[in-house]
Amino acid sequence: MMKIAFIGFGGVGQALAQILQERKEKLEAEYGLETKVVAVSDMMKGSVYHPDGLDIDRLLTIVRETGKLENYPDTKGVIKGWDSIETIKNSNADMIVEVTFTDVETGQPAIDHCRAAFESGKSVVTTNKGPVALAYPELSELAERKNVYWGFEGTVMSGTPALRMPVVTLAGNEITEIKGILNGTTNYILTEMETGKTYEEALKKAQELGYAEADPTNDVEGYDARYKAAILSSYLMKTPIPSKEIPCKGISHITHEMVQNALNENKKWRLLAKITKQDGKVTASVQPELLDATDPLAGVTGPTNAILYECDLAGPIMLTGAGAGLTETGYSLLIDLIDYQKQKTLERI
Ligand code: HSE
Repeated sequence: MMKIAFIGFGGVGQALAQILQERKEKLEAEYGLETKVVAVSDMMKGSVYHPDGLDIDRLLTIVRETGKLENYPDTKGVIKGWDSIETIKNSNADMIVEVTFTDVETGQPAIDHCRAAFESGKSVVTTNKGPVALAYPELSELAERKNVYWGFEGTVMSGTPALRMPVVTLAGNEITEIKGILNGTTNYILTEMETGKTYEEALKKAQELGYAEADPTNDVEGYDARYKAAILSSYLMKTPIPSKEIPCKGISHITHEMVQNALNENKKWRLLAKITKQDGKVTASVQPELLDATDPLAGVTGPTNAILYECDLAGPIMLTGAGAGLTETGYSLLIDLIDYQKQKTLERI
């Protein structure tokens, strides 16, 4: 029985809790994944812990109706008020689901949460890009030394398996290049501009639809895609590159005229993250590129993401799908939990 502590309980955490509840029988029967949520600790909503497990339906109803975990019934054995680090260290959870609001520039508080979990011999699954983009060498070494699991499938393309698919299914190939449209907001803006909107109009619409943040700098200047390029380089190319060292150009300088001129020449602008391996050396970059309209990546429109792996044996393979969304990102955590369960069955953890 996997005992789970949620650190952070916003939309993504709640989506995973709901999936675990709704698919309980199937997950147990098909994957041997038996779970129990023992703790939830959220900076805004408070915290609740019971070593024997909490009632997920009740948790979700209370959080959705009152916004406060303190309103969970005080039955015997319930402890309230632990902060995130206390919950990680003191609870009997063996799996920490780390889904806090983390500052992607510093990676905090998620980096400290991962570190505390690994040092306590606990595994972590997270959708936070910060710890993987900024502290992969340290954290992966610590997790390995403590023989615990670290899953982060959702950090690139949410529930579209951009990390697991190449490792598991494309195993045996040499991947020489990875190219991707890894940011939904910018792809939405560029493709809206193809329909005649100005940059400002397209950005405003992206914000209204909730794709872009209120401060869209991370998206439009390419920083979000750059973090993802750093993750791909560490995890798939086995070469950590500090994200600040990845050359990066966003799309805020792209004008209506540039997009229309490109269309007249049968070309399209796409913001591409690229990681290339040549003579054993790995380089990465993020910048808008002009693609032929027939290029498969040019055909990716709206907030959809896509990634293309150049494989030496299988040739180019492209994966396309959502790059964000609560259920999709909640599902990315389930991919990791099922993988953890498989590794455990194989006695690798
Ligand atoms: N803001 C990101 C995007 C979502 O627009 O793709 C998740 O990284």
